[in-house]
Amino acid sequence: MNLEALTREALAAYAQDHRQAFETELKTLVEIASVSSDPDRAGEIRRCAEAAADLFRRHGGEGLVLETGGNPLVLGRFDRDPALPTLTVYNHMDVQPANEPEWTTEPFRMEIQGDTYRGRGTTDDKGPALSAFFGALAAREAGVPLNIHFLWELEEEIGSPSFLGGLERHRDLLGTDAIVVSDTVWITRGKPSTPAGLRGLKGFRLTLETAGHDLHSGVVGGAARNPLAELMCVVAAMMDGHTGKVKIPRFYKKVVKPSRRELKEWAHSGFSVETFKQDHELHDLRTDHPLKIMKRIWGRPTMEVHGMVGGYTGPGIKSAVPPRAEVKMSCRLVPDMDEASTFALIRGFVESRFPGVQVHEEHGLAPFKGHVTGPYAEAVKAAYAFAFGAPCCFTREGGSIGAVKTMEDVLGCQVFFLGLSLPSHGYHAPNENYDWEQASGGMAAFAHYFQVVSGF
Ligand code: BES
Ligand code: MN
Ligand code: MN
Repeated sequence: MNLEALTREALAAYAQDHRQAFETELKTLVEIASVSSDPDRAGEIRRCAEAAADLFRRHGGEGLVLETGGNPLVLGRFDRDPALPTLTVYNHMDVQPANEPEWTTEPFRMEIQGDTYRGRGTTDDKGPALSAFFGALAAREAGVPLNIHFLWELEEEIGSPSFLGGLERHRDLLGTDAIVVSDTVWITRGKPSTPAGLRGLKGFRLTLETAGHDLHSGVVGGAARNPLAELMCVVAAMMDGHTGKVKIPRFYKKVVKPSRRELKEWAHSGFSVETFKQDHELHDLRTDHPLKIMKRIWGRPTMEVHGMVGGYTGPGIKSAVPPRAEVKMSCRLVPDMDEASTFALIRGFVESRFPGVQVHEEHGLAPFKGHVTGPYAEAVKAAYAFAFGAPCCFTREGGSIGAVKTMEDVLGCQVFFLGLSLPSHGYHAPNENYDWEQASGGMAAFAHYFQVVSGF
């Protein structure tokens, strides 16, 4: 192993020398609109998988497109010797839709504005994937004695419906000693953090139909039921919209409170309410107390209303009684809640109190409890300190990554997180972006991680 090629200075030079290549590869991937929720984009999903596999091949690795029955997986392998340990890096290549009106550039064109890369998927998750990729190239060139694999999913943003089947089908190709996921956000710029857990998710919809078509509210109003107004009552019975508190009995029963040690770590994480508000363009919050905010976003379950469908939405008003309405909702879950019993509670509550309202089940993901001790966790901390010169702490992540628990279950190894995204990059938001500081630092962080892990 050529240790001189792995110093901070040498890796900074490596990143600089490969900046053009990084930008070209990121542009190629971002400009393939791999929106997994849109059936019309199936061709782009396929093209993205092929382009990703080709990336590994062009750089002297193996690039395989693995069928799952749903969207494919991409496996990239830089193998050295079967006797050496193997580390797998997980990322996802699918993205969210980009139809928000606030985009100031074309979402599926990558714009380079100085050190900023703008476009859908730049930070979630194509930029971090390529940062890890170039870190691996640096480690390989320096002769780090490790087999490095990349597992790139194309269904993460729709809850990974084919991931379990895909892993089982291709288990023989996927053996690994540990997995590192780069799909999480820091506290803010300069403040790396790595999650000690992820929240799970359970989606559902409420629907109610009370008539056959739009009705004149002057003719039937007063006697006719109003499904939009009734569903608002249902939501209000389920939760307090101001505080967010869920009113369904036993909803919080299985919630495990963050430990004293976790709370202490959070309190010293550098989280700032002002920065949090700025990074996310939040006007105001349900509380301004920093530790309460952290508990709410990392350690507590939620119930959210995502959309209400029904009635007239054109200009002005149409004084009709709508015939039907729908509310789209989900809950974020924390350990030890589970999707099935949470959904059963919700369905039972609504059906017993509001006959006629239908509760439709949507996808769910289990919460994940991570690993904060042991050599791989220490290596994450070392990699951040090495690359970014800043300490990293274990927080938790409020978001969900369905693949994580599945990989632990099927591949029988532990998953760690080396995320590179910032809150200000705007996950799922208009004008999503990534930047060279995170990319170049990320390359060094990954190269160092590979070096440390190769010694285990
Ligand atoms: N990268 C995110 C997960 C994430 C979100 C990590 C926030 C850290 C903070 C991932 O791509 C994602 O968006 N997951 C979805 C999954 C869902 C659509 C099934 C999520 O959390 O909503
Ligand atoms: Mn992601
Ligand atoms: Mn996402």
